[in-house]
Amino acid sequence: MHKVACWPHRKQVGSDMYSEKELLEAARQTLIDNDRGGYTIPTAGLYPFQWNWDAGVTALGWMTFDQQRAWDEFHALLRGQWQSGPQEGLIPHIVFHQAASSYFPGPDQWGCEADGVVRQVATTSITQPPLHASMIAAMLQMNADAQITQKNLLPIVQGLVRHHRWWYRCRDPLDTGLVFSSHPWESGMDNSPAWDEPLKAVPRTTRAYTRKDLGHVDSSMRPTQEFYDRVVYLMDFNREVGFDPGRIAKESPYRVNDIGIISILNGASLQLASLCEGLGLQDDALFLRARCAMTARAIGQLWSEKLGQYVSRDQITGQLLEVPTHAGFLSWHGRLVEPAHDARQLATLLAWMHETPYALPSTRSSHPAFEPARYWRGPIWQHLSALIQDGLARAGHRGASDLLAASMQSLFSQSGFYEDYRPLTGAGVGGTHFSWTAATYLFGRHVQSLRA
Ligand code: DGY
Repeated sequence: MHKVACWPHRKQVGSDMYSEKELLEAARQTLIDNDRGGYTIPTAGLYPFQWNWDAGVTALGWMTFDQQRAWDEFHALLRGQWQSGPQEGLIPHIVFHQAASSYFPGPDQWGCEADGVVRQVATTSITQPPLHASMIAAMLQMNADAQITQKNLLPIVQGLVRHHRWWYRCRDPLDTGLVFSSHPWESGMDNSPAWDEPLKAVPRTTRAYTRKDLGHVDSSMRPTQEFYDRVVYLMDFNREVGFDPGRIAKESPYRVNDIGIISILNGASLQLASLCEGLGLQDDALFLRARCAMTARAIGQLWSEKLGQYVSRDQITGQLLEVPTHAGFLSWHGRLVEPAHDARQLATLLAWMHETPYALPSTRSSHPAFEPARYWRGPIWQHLSALIQDGLARAGHRGASDLLAASMQSLFSQSGFYEDYRPLTGAGVGGTHFSWTAATYLFGRHVQSLRA
């Protein structure tokens, strides 16, 4: 079973593909192996803690064969939520439930120890794309058991409302409609070439530190040393300003209106508003809908006529970051695509999809920054493809959505459950036995079976 999840890419297709049965067993086994007792690590060694957006995606996988375990993933994540102080409501990007020495930067680096007041558990000081409410909405469509749902839903929705309020309060204090991210790791798309330009304004740290990631995967698949020097600087900056959100909003040398985060937040806020309405939390629902309306009015500022897609913007300089990354296509998932731009962005997406044998590369393959194996600079991320595929279907672009689904399926069948995949060959790269990739497979298969 393990063999399936980590077999290297095999050039032969046809009889050499994994069967549905093999994939199903291996996907479940991947989650079981990565379970650390109520929370799931992304993969052993490389990522030994609970990650924020991984947890949301991974819950979808658990939901297909152990419903209570799916809800537990959120309860565990919310144990890391900041309980008081100016950043009350923050759900951090990593929750350090247990010690592990195989990762840098671990709990000793962030200055966010458990203190019983702000935090019950040590965490990082930054966040990640808030897709959780969208994942919960999907879970509720999956033959959710009424009793299990009733037992779990309310406290999780309340925690997520606090988190969304945190986003709008701390990351859009001037009510522009467009939240900002203060660290490339918050985007989840760490070393995306979209961040190259804004990162130039961030000094390289001069302090000593030792990376651990290069002990787990080849350096050609990981961010560069220069990237690490700058993100370590930003981690230290947060600690030095006492995690003061006002100072971060004014003084952080990295502030980006990230189209990926903005889209994911908006899609999740709309879902969260519906969940609140169902639970009688009317004030929260009204608040969330008002924020979504504000974002819908502002989103046109992120349209790139040059690229024919939405892009991110450097909030400090006001410059659009016109690098073709797949994050722009999340605007469909976020229900943010303006009618005037829908057809053009669809044409852009279809052009991308015809340029590589496998879709959807994280950076357009014809762009000079494209690197097919280096993390977020080219490889395919299946959970992102799933979000884009869902957004396309909701927008009525069924043909493009099906095309993307078919490409996702061929990557699973050919290569199993890697962290990410090369768009030119379909070979898996990065970590193996990867939780959110296995979960994306389980969820997709479940949805297909409901349709059949
Ligand atoms: C890493 O360490 O590469 C993670 O993606 C940061 O969240």
